[in-house]
Amino acid sequence: MKILGIETSCDETGVAIYDDKQGLIANQLYSQIKLHADYGGVVPELASRDHIRKTVPLIEAALTQANLKASDIDGVAYTAGPGLIGALMVGASIGRSLAYAWGVPAVAVHHMEGHLLAPMLEDNPPAFPFIALLVSGGHTQLIKVTGIGEYALLGESIDDAAGEAFDKTAKLLGLDYPGGAKLSKLAERGNVKRFHFPRPMTDRPGLDFSFSGLKTAAANTINQQKQDLDEQTKADIARAFEDALVDTLLIKSRRALDQTGFNRLVIAGGVSANKTLRGKLTQLMAERKGQVYYPRLEFCTDNGAMIAYAGMIHLKASQFADLAIEVKPRWPLSEL
Ligand SMILES: Nc1ncnc2c1ncn2[C@@H]1O[C@H](COP(=O)(O)OP(=O)(O)OP(=O)(O)O)[C@@H](O)[C@H]1O
Ligand SMILES: [Mg+2]
Repeated sequence: MKILGIETSCDETGVAIYDDKQGLIANQLYSQIKLHADYGGVVPELASRDHIRKTVPLIEAALTQANLKASDIDGVAYTAGPGLIGALMVGASIGRSLAYAWGVPAVAVHHMEGHLLAPMLEDNPPAFPFIALLVSGGHTQLIKVTGIGEYALLGESIDDAAGEAFDKTAKLLGLDYPGGAKLSKLAERGNVKRFHFPRPMTDRPGLDFSFSGLKTAAANTINQQKQDLDEQTKADIARAFEDALVDTLLIKSRRALDQTGFNRLVIAGGVSANKTLRGKLTQLMAERKGQVYYPRLEFCTDNGAMIAYAGMIHLKASQFADLAIEVKPRWPLSEL
């Protein structure tokens, strides 16, 4: 069986084809980063219009890449939420309509389930159960995963998401949007000892996060430096920020593992591309004689492959979307 997956929830147009026997056979991605760069963030209306321009050509490119005809496709999966409503509507309208025209089932995929299952596209996929740390531009969540569709939320950010905190702090340091990866690169040259930022909410029980204070700590330090804010100082601040955020994620992940007794940890979402985070969590799991799993770099941020993969699982379970084109800008994963 072959499924076409379409992702348009934010500022990436992703299209992929997944075959249940051969695995991923086509993957196309177009990023709108340049389109939004001047505005310092995603402009929803521009995002929707660009998805309209790019989605159909990418579907054609994916079919060509896999050397398939439309009639070879057994189902169409699209991201139905959460995300920007206009952007979601583009992928959902195209996906639902194509499925209707081709006479195959449509599958409405939850974007965060896509992120969570992205490590399943790798050679050594995690077995259930596991703890998933979802760290992206819009989410920071710890989830107890006992099977497909069995997602219990253990904790989440009460304010900024990890990626959002990275991007906001990067902006304060004068880096272009989205600055998460650039801040991390800058931090490589930073002095670990110069500044120390708090590890928010780690001094009390629970698995929730709060990152807005961390961004404020960085802002205050930047303001104190004023004219002394040279490149080295910026790198030192980036270092302190990344260490504080990564440590906080590590402390809470460890707590979630202790609480459940699980020894597998999955990290997914854009921030799971972060080298320091991967390194520290790999070390943590080695110490615990467990294992950490993450997607290849290109599947950490938004992509069509994860939507095609999640879509295939629902297709096989006959979990189809009805004929209405419906999207959910807000959609808790626990509702699945
Ligand atoms: N190496 C890195 N270090 C830190 N942050 C990173 C890195 N690479 C990407 N990011 C961050 O990941 C985020 C983008 O991830 P992703 O595409 O998964 O988020 P999103 O789709 O916008 O949000 P959501 O999935 O919650 O709707 C951005 O905030 C970006 O700065
Ligand atoms: Mg995403």
